[in-house]
Parts: sequence; C-alpha cells; structure tokens
Amino acid sequence: MSEHTPVAPASLGPAHRKVGVVGAGGVGTAICYAALIRGVAREVALYDIDEPKVRAEVLDLAHGTPFTSASAMTGGADPDVLAGCEVVVITAGAKQRPGQTRLDLGAHNVEILRGLLPQVQAHAPDALIVLVTNPVDVLTLVAQRLTGLPAGRVIGSGTLLDTSRLRWLLASRAQVHASSVHAAILGEHGDTEFPAWSSARIGPTPILEWPTPAAPLFTRADLDEVADTVVHAAYEVIRGKGATTYAVGVATTRLLEAILRDQHAILPVSTVLDGVHGLSDVALSMPSVVGRDGVTRVIQPELDAAEMRALHSSADALRREARSLGF
Ligand code: LAC
Repeated sequence: MSEHTPVAPASLGPAHRKVGVVGAGGVGTAICYAALIRGVAREVALYDIDEPKVRAEVLDLAHGTPFTSASAMTGGADPDVLAGCEVVVITAGAKQRPGQTRLDLGAHNVEILRGLLPQVQAHAPDALIVLVTNPVDVLTLVAQRLTGLPAGRVIGSGTLLDTSRLRWLLASRAQVHASSVHAAILGEHGDTEFPAWSSARIGPTPILEWPTPAAPLFTRADLDEVADTVVHAAYEVIRGKGATTYAVGVATTRLLEAILRDQHAILPVSTVLDGVHGLSDVALSMPSVVGRDGVTRVIQPELDAAEMRALHSSADALRREARSLGF
C-alpha cells in the first residue's frame, strides 16, 4: 500500500480559507477535529515537530473528512504546511500537571513561543495569530511584542472557554438553552478570572431576578458558588483525565468561525489592551468584536465596584508574571 500523504485540494483562490494549528497534542487535535466538523475553513493544516505523531494525527483526522464538511485535512513536520494560512493557532507547549497553575507554565512556554513565531511568520506572514497555550494571556502579550503585529491580530482564546463553562452551568440550573444565558467571564484565563454578574441576564431578565424578582432562582451565594466552580473547572478535569481538550477545542473553533466567516461577533477574548478601563501593557479578556481582521474593537463593559477591583487585580497578576519573564 503506497503511503498517501493528504494534500490540499487545488486552491480555490480567496474562498480557500486555510487555518493552521501548531501542536499535535490533545488541544491541537481537538481544535482540528472541531474545525473540520464545523466546516470553518476549506483546509485545516496541522504542524508539529514530531513527524510520526503529526502524520498519524493528520491521517486519522483526514480519514473522517468524507463525513464532515468539505474541509481538507493536511499537515506534517515541516512548517511550510502553514503556507497560505489566514489564521495560525498556537497550542504547542507544556500543559498543566495536577496542582500546577497556568502561570507556572510561563517560562517554559515563552521559550517555545520564541522558537515558533519566526517560523510561523516566515511561512504565513499575513496570518492572524491565535494563542491557546497557557498562560494564554501572558503569551498573547509576548507574541504581540515579539511579532510587532497590531494588537488586534494577536488574539488569545482567553476566557471564551470559561464563559462557555459559566453559561453551561447557569443554563443547566435555569433549565434554558445556553444561548439564552448572557453572561461572561472576564480578565485572566486563570485563577484571577471573574464573572461580570452586574450585566448578566437570562433572556431579558437580570440574573438575580430570574425567573421572577419575587421568587429568584439564584441567591448571591449561589452565584459565588457557580463562579468558584468555573474557576476550578479545569483543575477537576485535569485531575481526572490529565488535560482538558474538547471544550477548549470547540471554544477556539468558535473564535476561528468568527474570524474566517467575518462575523463581527462579540466574544470575550484576550488582546493587549490600550486604555480600556485604564489598562494598558497587559493582555486579558474583554468583550471584543471579532472578524476577519481579528479584534477590531475592545468593548469597555459597565462593571460594578467589585468587578472593577477584580479586573485590576487580574491585570496586576498578569503584569507581574509578564515582567518576571522579561516582558
Ligand atoms: C482550560 C485550559 C485550556 O481551562 O486552560 O481548560
């Protein structure tokens, strides 16, 4: 049997949307899988230095494409598989071990990023860069500083995943569809993240008045418990299966969908801020307008006093970590 290496279909020109994923670990392959099923791109390319591993993952993903969307699955151990990508997603790096915080991964994963970025820019010079590797906010700042790209073209998946966890929990308890839960986690994708409860709604109803002000479902203590569950969600999954993969895969694919379909969707993602709520020189998640040019607007949400304190505490923690790494 001849060894067949999946090749890209003949380029379709501008409609040939191509997304690259760097890192053939659990997160990178989950993103590829979700992107193929959601049909966010005409081609999904996976790059990793581990040739046997990346070849096996590309083949395994490609074998299913007759039953997914019209996307083609390609990739390999040469960075030139990223050529022509409109977006490159970086998932390579050490992952949290049980008990480790995301910030603990900083020094090691910054060095991996330093080696990767020149290759990505050499082979996909026009690509938006999406960071998923943790500590994702610090690495978003580092990637923006190292590449010199405009802040909106370097996007961290940030608290998009945490927001998905929050909406899932609230929807389950309120017995409504998650798309009707309008609530977000902001700040660090990590231990200092916080829910913007003051603007949270279920349908048109403020969350503390759902379903009626006379008989609300949630007390303030209930919301605090929900928030705590979200902050610790990843640790629970990591204890049980060693890593998180599926949720971050679909959350990142939601971000890719907004970019590649030019949706101008408002999503909580991480970029280097330039004055929002007085914050600069730090990357963290704020509600942002996302389209094919990346983040085109960072929205300054109304926050109450406690949320503002939490935001600045998150920013301080991230700045301390970035400075400890030389950024
Ligand atoms: C998590 C990892 C991706 O929160 O940080 O699952």
